[in-house]
Amino acid sequence: MPQEEKKGFVSLLYNRISYLGGMLAAIMIVIFLLLMFISSVAGGENPYFGLVTFIVLPPFIILGLLLIPIGVWWERRNRLRKGRKTEVLFPIIDLNVPKNRRYLIIFNVSVFGLLLIAAVGSYHAYHYTETTGFCGKLCHEVMNPEYTAYEQSPHARVGCVDCHVGSGASFYVKSKLSGMYQVYAALANVYPKPIPTPIKNLRPAQETCEQCHWPAAFFGEKQKMTSHYLYDKENSPWTVNMLIKIGGGSPGTAQTTGIHWHMNIANRVEYIARDQRQQDIPWVKMSNFKTGVVNEFNDETNPLTPGELDSLPKHRMDCMDCHNRPTHVFRSPNYSMNLALDTRMMDPKLPNIKANGVKVLTGEYKNTPEALSSISQQIWALYDEKNFPDTTIHPASIEQAVKTLQEIYATNFFPEMGVRWDVYTDDIGHTTSKGCHRCHDGNHKTTDGKTITRECSACHTILSQGRPDSLEITADLVNGLEFKHPVDIGDAWKETGCFECHTGGQP
Ligand code: HEC
Ligand code: HEC
Ligand code: HEC
Ligand code: HEC
Ligand code: HEC
Ligand code: HEC
Repeated sequence: MPQEEKKGFVSLLYNRISYLGGMLAAIMIVIFLLLMFISSVAGGENPYFGLVTFIVLPPFIILGLLLIPIGVWWERRNRLRKGRKTEVLFPIIDLNVPKNRRYLIIFNVSVFGLLLIAAVGSYHAYHYTETTGFCGKLCHEVMNPEYTAYEQSPHARVGCVDCHVGSGASFYVKSKLSGMYQVYAALANVYPKPIPTPIKNLRPAQETCEQCHWPAAFFGEKQKMTSHYLYDKENSPWTVNMLIKIGGGSPGTAQTTGIHWHMNIANRVEYIARDQRQQDIPWVKMSNFKTGVVNEFNDETNPLTPGELDSLPKHRMDCMDCHNRPTHVFRSPNYSMNLALDTRMMDPKLPNIKANGVKVLTGEYKNTPEALSSISQQIWALYDEKNFPDTTIHPASIEQAVKTLQEIYATNFFPEMGVRWDVYTDDIGHTTSKGCHRCHDGNHKTTDGKTITRECSACHTILSQGRPDSLEITADLVNGLEFKHPVDIGDAWKETGCFECHTGGQP
């Protein structure tokens, strides 16, 4: 084999483009390895670090490597143009030449090294794009409300992807494809505020929630005790202690009752919603798996037209139709104030603080800094000597109230994204939003008069209620107590939904 030809190929590598490519790739690989080393030594989960290492650097490495053959091709073309022959595009490798063997070993070792780096890199890149840091912190403004609420929720140690992506390659690819658009939308500032819900294409609950929670294994009741404070000068306490009949069970066990049993295990419930937020539900269908009985319920006050029945999509009810806020919980002013007073983050002896706190939290503010300073000003003004000549008030408790109110605001209200409790309502109950009463309002009936129940005792049993010093208690765990409203509103609570007066602020 003529020696010049082999030399000819190697000499083709000596060109500016290949030099540039080689240098670029080498520098980027060194930085990449250095960053990998630093992050493995320093630990932690800095989203920007990952962004540079796994998203920004790799394309430059690939670009550098691609430039090498492009340079060879360019150089050969130039030489041919200038009338020089002999150069071949591909090397002719004669393994009998010792130098060739050395070249080949060097070549193979570097390819192997690069493949190793690529494998380790893409493994880390995969994990990096699945971290809560990547999802929650990188798009700081967009995801800030969800991230903040999530950090305070029972799911704070569950990764975003466990609910939003789940396991398996197809959902990974799907989520990354829509993620690319989201990154673009965030950078170009064209995303909707607030982000519309329910989010399209959220993975079915069977593949996310039910990987950790298994309703067939639930049973019985969940006790829930809530402390309320009234809107009077004394911030009078009022507690409600109830058993919520969550139920559950599997077809093999005797325990087959309650909310989860009826809704998920024994039956299939389908519904049609008129609005995107699924608050207006005029049609519900219930199919029993075992008996084959099918019931269609229509809202008699607002029935579905035949056209709507054909054109609107039917949804199969799942966990998220009740638990739509399992982790991104934006608390209402009323709820937040009850919680703060109950945990003594605020002094219940501060006169009227429940009403005043709810008032300042319900206000409209342009952005968070403005809200925080305005909240402070308003509270200090409400308790100054002119408005409140009561000298027994301790300034320290006003100061504490201001601090707590600011904290409540900062973790539950996001004016920049248009997010607060009444934008993302929670569907789990019926006291501040329609929730269960979207269907259980007593108006959804079959043609033969069967009704989706509005009976208070279908869902819970009240064990005790009232002021802590004069609590009404029962030992009758089956029937419980009849509900008593804290202030006299007559029989209004029997006919009107609680959510119609209670919207999260002062009723
Ligand atoms: C326990 C499961 C769970 C976890 C963990 C979780 N989410 Fe969600 N997320 C949901 C559900 C369910 C919805 C849909 C709410 C709806 O459709 O009304 C949602 C909705 C959202 C929305 C749409 C806006 C909104 O508030 O409804 C964003 C944005 C979001 N999640 C981001 C995140 C980020 C970022 C993380 C991690 C920091 C995360 N999520 C972790 C369950 C979860
Ligand atoms: C990766 C596992 C995991 C996934 C996925 C998951 N959860 Fe959870 N969930 C948990 C853990 C852990 C807790 C906290 C238990 C505790 O604090 O006692 C929890 C708590 C809850 C609670 C009780 C909250 C409370 O206030 O006591 C509800 C309700 C719930 N999850 C619903 C859901 C729903 C709905 C989904 C799907 C959108 C979901 N979970 C997905 C692990 C998970
Ligand atoms: C018809 C509405 C409804 C549906 C559908 C529903 N749940 Fe629930 N779930 C409730 C209610 C109501 C409670 C009790 C109130 C609470 O925890 O705030 C509850 C409680 C829970 C709890 C807490 C149990 C405990 O002992 O603390 C978990 C976990 C849970 N649900 C998971 C799920 C999962 C997973 C699904 C889907 C398979 C699901 N739920 C479907 C209404 C529902
Ligand atoms: C999309 C409509 C819809 C929503 C929302 C809904 N349900 Fe239901 N629920 C039904 C239907 C339909 C039935 C079956 C009625 C029947 O066959 O008598 C039912 C039955 C029940 C039953 C059994 C009642 C009985 O007579 O024994 C309970 C308990 C229940 N639901 C609890 C809840 C709770 C709690 C919520 C809110 C967290 C809720 N449901 C939200 C449609 C709904
Ligand atoms: C379809 C089921 C259902 C029906 C019917 C129902 N509730 Fe409820 N109710 C719930 C659920 C679920 C919760 C708990 C929500 C939560 O965990 O935050 C609740 C919460 C409550 C609370 C506690 C509120 C608090 O913040 O302490 C009271 C009081 C209450 N209901 C009264 C009633 C009365 C009175 C009726 C009858 C007029 C009634 N409910 C009918 C499901 C129902
Ligand atoms: C006709 C309007 C109306 C209806 C309907 C109504 N409430 Fe109220 N509720 C009020 C008013 C007004 C107050 C404020 C009382 C005060 O001055 O402290 C209040 C206060 C309360 C409080 C104490 C304050 C707090 O923490 O929220 C609770 C608890 C309560 N209501 C529960 C309910 C429940 C549960 C229902 C439904 C079964 C209901 N209410 C229906 C008007 C109503």
